[in-house]
Amino acid sequence: MEKYDFDSLADRTIDNARKWDNKIVHSKFPKVRDDFIPLWIADMDFKAAPEIRNSLAKVANNGAYGYTYSTERWYQSVINWQLKKHNNHVEHDWISLGYGTVPNMHIIVQALLKPTDSILLNTPVYGPFAYAAEHNDRKVICVPLKNINNRYYLDWEKIEYEMKEKQPKLTFFCNPHNPSGRVWSKDEITHMAQLCQKYNVLLVSDEVHSEQIMKGPFTSSLQLDKQYLDNLVMFTSPNKAFNLGGLKLSYSIIPNPKIREQFRQQYVRNSVTSPNVPGQVAMITAYEKCDEWLKQCTAYIKENLKITQEAIASSFPGWKMMDMESSYLPWVDISASGIDMHTIAQVMAEKAGVVVGIGDDYVANADNFLRLNLGTSHAVIEEAMTRMADVWETMYQ
Ligand SMILES: Cc1ncc(COP(=O)(O)O)c(C=O)c1O
Repeated sequence: MEKYDFDSLADRTIDNARKWDNKIVHSKFPKVRDDFIPLWIADMDFKAAPEIRNSLAKVANNGAYGYTYSTERWYQSVINWQLKKHNNHVEHDWISLGYGTVPNMHIIVQALLKPTDSILLNTPVYGPFAYAAEHNDRKVICVPLKNINNRYYLDWEKIEYEMKEKQPKLTFFCNPHNPSGRVWSKDEITHMAQLCQKYNVLLVSDEVHSEQIMKGPFTSSLQLDKQYLDNLVMFTSPNKAFNLGGLKLSYSIIPNPKIREQFRQQYVRNSVTSPNVPGQVAMITAYEKCDEWLKQCTAYIKENLKITQEAIASSFPGWKMMDMESSYLPWVDISASGIDMHTIAQVMAEKAGVVVGIGDDYVANADNFLRLNLGTSHAVIEEAMTRMADVWETMYQ
């Protein structure tokens, strides 16, 4: 079995990575150290699986990048992956190719919600969940997640209260949850589906973080009882797990034909039609050939997690990292340190040269949280932790 190399990173200047871009990082932290390590935007610095690189090289060398269509092989790769990885039985008709999960969120709002309708979010949550509402002039209703012993729980009483009183038409549900990595249980997902059905709220489940599970089991919303599938839209892609976000493809799975048709009508209005050539090839290859790469990548990130957990426990009194049950984005509660998150992020950028994510980017209820990104080499994580620990010791201990 091939042993993949995650220590040699890609040159992130060639893809003009936003995460590593000087100008973009300086716009956030004008006095950031020149040799900064970016642990913010959620993509990984690893080279994509060699199988994907080979498929893309073939396309690149062939020299034809003209118009294409969603091939039968692409549909089958999605159907097979969903079955093999998540035990989801997906019908061909249910699948629609899209240009990204965030664009899909915008499109579903346009397709199904009237201007006066609102969207319920359990916050904190990935920022674009709110942008999909705000960019389309729809209101957001935030229900704070309950933080009990450093683990998030859904606040059923408040969710039900808001559904009853404010009658949101849709909820974006992040499963697993970004920013905490929390993997919701089957009971929790079922409870959510029950409330959505009772109050006529469309359940839109974002499952883009479901492929890298550190502590399972992960339950997809497609595992819900049949009665709930009629009120469900599932968005996902291989973009997070296989680092293909820049190829701008994703897909939706919508069992209810009426909702699917309304959604697709909005595609027609925006001429969302065929995939891009490399995107489709990369997605098929990821799903057909890269399971082993993903397993090794997940194991590699677990090692980064260990390094980070140990560093936080030994060097940052007052920092508490949530148990990262999925993905590669640890969520750290720094409130007990008594120092505000903006100050810490700025100090880390300027003095340690480590760029971290700040709670502000997660809609609401994330004061005094930082988000890190472990999608890089052990050496980079070790260096980042050492630099941060040195600065913390000098300035705050
Ligand atoms: C929960 C969640 N959904 C969607 C996305 C982005 O999806 P896409 O690049 O396909 O728009 C991200 C990226 O970090 C994410 O965390």
